Amino acid sequence: MKALVYHGPGSKSLDERPMPVLRDGGDAIVRVTRTTICGTDLHILKGDVPTCAPGRILGHEGVGIVEAVGAGVTTFKPGDHVLISCITSCGRCAFCRKGMYSHCTSGGWILGNTIDGTQAEYVRVPHADTSLYPIPAGADEEALVMLSDILPTGFECGVLNGRVQPGSSVAIVGAGPIGLAALLTARFYTPAKIVVIDLDAHRLATAKRFGATHVVDSGHEDAAAAVRAVTGGLGADTVIEAVGVPATFELCQELVAPGGVIANIGVHGCKADLHLETLWSRNIAITTRLVDTATTPMLMETVSAGTLAPERLITHHFQLADILDAYDTFGRAAETQALKVLIAT
Ligand SMILES: NC(=O)c1ccc[n+]([C@@H]2O[C@H](COP(=O)([O-])OP(=O)(O)OC[C@H]3O[C@@H](n4cnc5c(N)ncnc54)[C@H](O)[C@@H]3O)[C@@H](O)[C@H]2O)c1
Ligand SMILES: [Zn+2]
Ligand SMILES: [Zn+2]
Repeated sequence: MKALVYHGPGSKSLDERPMPVLRDGGDAIVRVTRTTICGTDLHILKGDVPTCAPGRILGHEGVGIVEAVGAGVTTFKPGDHVLISCITSCGRCAFCRKGMYSHCTSGGWILGNTIDGTQAEYVRVPHADTSLYPIPAGADEEALVMLSDILPTGFECGVLNGRVQPGSSVAIVGAGPIGLAALLTARFYTPAKIVVIDLDAHRLATAKRFGATHVVDSGHEDAAAAVRAVTGGLGADTVIEAVGVPATFELCQELVAPGGVIANIGVHGCKADLHLETLWSRNIAITTRLVDTATTPMLMETVSAGTLAPERLITHHFQLADILDAYDTFGRAAETQALKVLIAT
């Protein structure tokens, strides 16, 4: 089968690889019909993710058709149409029992990291009963690819941890796919104000189309002053960090209102300053989270009901044979205006 293989920092190719086979009773083999590329795949290609060894098939998002199941799989059978979660969960360990699937002791983020992933014609999914989700008949499978990772990430790490409330104010720093996913799902709670901050004018225009009440180009404007102006001088009740660099985490500390929450989503590769000298008296909370995908079934319901339209994040379509072009387009997002690139196999 064809698969996108990581060969070490800066090196990848579309290779011919053997078909995956069932190894454990809980495994399923899924024929991938649609997959996509995540910013995290670009981090792997830069060499930032040491757990991902050369030779690994990348990808942790996708939908497909179950091809085969192990003897222990009871929920799925060959022919079932399924959503593959970026997080594999056994459903039984102490972390899974708390809904913290991302910390599953025999799962977590393993696809396209420590085991072969979804940017291939077929993928082996361990703990299939609790790591795949059935796709209802008639559903738009392209839209559901957005639910493998980015929608649960924006919602769980940003909106839920950030305790977005009706009538509240929300500031989102970073208008990439993740920040925009946080924006789309923050709207479930009807906050009065959603301010989105980025350096990219096209992404800010997209944020405005997706329902941001205000957008701020922090390359040209003082973001803290802009958020104060919108919130009567108070700052935002929820501040969502969706970039992952020290400057933006520090900016979040300037944006948060007394009593507010800074909900960090960004993956940080280096330390960032925490200004306790100003924050100690402000009754704020700071949260961190690796996406658990515990809300995937709920998000699927919102897509079926038409309250969430995640396909709006898809900007480009490719075939698996052209996945290197897809990487190129996604990697030059500032020029190509890419958000999510959909890859059909
Ligand atoms: N916690 C989790 O489980 C989890 C899961 C998936 C992704 N992530 C992380 O979420 C973050 C966002 O992901 P993404 O795919 O949307 O990334 P992205 O790179 O597409 O988007 C980041 C955005 O931040 C903007 N930006 C960069 N520097 C800025 C600055 N100084 N001020 C304002 N804006 C700035 C960029 O213009 C871009 O639009 C990444 O760090 C990613 O690794 C976390
Ligand atoms: Zn991802
Ligand atoms: Zn577990």
